[in-house]
Amino acid sequence: MATARIVTKIPGPKSARLLARKASALPAGVYHNVPVFIQSAENAVLEDIDGNRFIDFASGIGTINVGHAAGPVVQAVQEQVQRFTHTCFHVTMYEDYIALAEKLNQIVPGDFDKKTYFVNSGAEAVENAVKIARFATGRSAVLAYEQSFHGRTLLGLTLTGKVKPIKKGFGPLASEVYHLPFPDCRDCAGGPTGLCCQAEETALRRLLMTRVDPEQIAAIIFEPVLGEGGVRPFPDEYLRMLFKFARENGILMIADEIQTGWGRTGSLFAMEHYGLAADLTVTAKSLAGGLPLSAVTGRAEIMDRVAPGGIGSTYGGNPLACAAALAAISTIESCKLAERAREIGAVVAKYLEPLAANYPFIGDYRIRGAMIGIDLVRDKNSYAPAPELFGSIQRQCYENGLIILKAGLFGNVIRFLPPLTIEFDVLEEGLKIFAQALENAAAAHG
Ligand SMILES: Cc1ncc(COP(=O)(O)O)c(C=O)c1O
Repeated sequence: MATARIVTKIPGPKSARLLARKASALPAGVYHNVPVFIQSAENAVLEDIDGNRFIDFASGIGTINVGHAAGPVVQAVQEQVQRFTHTCFHVTMYEDYIALAEKLNQIVPGDFDKKTYFVNSGAEAVENAVKIARFATGRSAVLAYEQSFHGRTLLGLTLTGKVKPIKKGFGPLASEVYHLPFPDCRDCAGGPTGLCCQAEETALRRLLMTRVDPEQIAAIIFEPVLGEGGVRPFPDEYLRMLFKFARENGILMIADEIQTGWGRTGSLFAMEHYGLAADLTVTAKSLAGGLPLSAVTGRAEIMDRVAPGGIGSTYGGNPLACAAALAAISTIESCKLAERAREIGAVVAKYLEPLAANYPFIGDYRIRGAMIGIDLVRDKNSYAPAPELFGSIQRQCYENGLIILKAGLFGNVIRFLPPLTIEFDVLEEGLKIFAQALENAAAAHG
């Protein structure tokens, strides 16, 4: 029996009424992808208030790696909520915060002593990592990448490598942030020849000659695989060059594993694929199985520099979130979800290969475990982005019971981030809905 079930037009009448209330109660900037309101969720399925059931290839943007309403997470939160909900760790403490920090110190990449503390959101963790890097090095500048995404706080959006709609109109931006071109083999001056890393290394050298002295750089922040930027992994060779450059110049590396962490790319953290360990790692999203929590983990000697009171947050490491995170991590490990991400990627690859060969508007696609990006292009020769196709494909998908995400600088990348616990028959059902949406798009666009 099918899992997806559509019983009304989308949005259904109840969702349509709430959409009208949203429009009058919320600012326009609070965006949504799919015009439905959810009533319940289980593993990889969302049910809306009109009784429509959707297969979820979004996971709350990569936040539900352990599945919606995962039993161990729900149980841990229920037990904790009956004991106490909040004390503020900076006033009176509780063991789960310590146990969770110990766990991250043990599993975050890096064969060195680590320390961890908790804040609330991805952007807040990014801000904190930069603060620590600046304090520890006594330097102020930060390098980041074009096409990256690091959040919507003022420093987060300054670091982010995309103007519209993230930065536009929110200036003045934070100072001392410099962007490098993302080393994309397809886009770079070297062309898709394998020489791209050399071309991008030249861009780095040029930045150091024209804009910022390496001795002024505190840190380089990067996502091992761009998430919002369209599921683009850093080339291995380039990242190796970058780490060497950072080491030689006393610059700290900050890995933003907010979207790539917790099994998503087929290893617990994406940096494991490179065999490199950043000095500071920020995690969030699937860390706490859907509860708001983020972490900064780093070399103990760096993390210890800031004096008491210099870092912290009222809600950071909230007891409910810590209990949820301990349960979520234990589920990721015991259910071998990183391995499962690779299996999901293999199933998706099997479906995508013939689709990409069949449709001229599918360009490249990238599969890193269960993190999948599919480029929509005008044609395979020009490779010009075709963001106009995304809306109709997405609508076809949700009108037939599948939720997908958009990504990419040009908004032309279809992104899948399904829960890593998705049943394989449900995954295949979702992929069939997707294939049908592509067929309809091909018919509509000729
Ligand atoms: C790589 C990355 N960094 C930072 C963030 C910001 O996280 P948050 O929205 O929790 O502030 C995101 C969110 O999508 C992200 O994907």
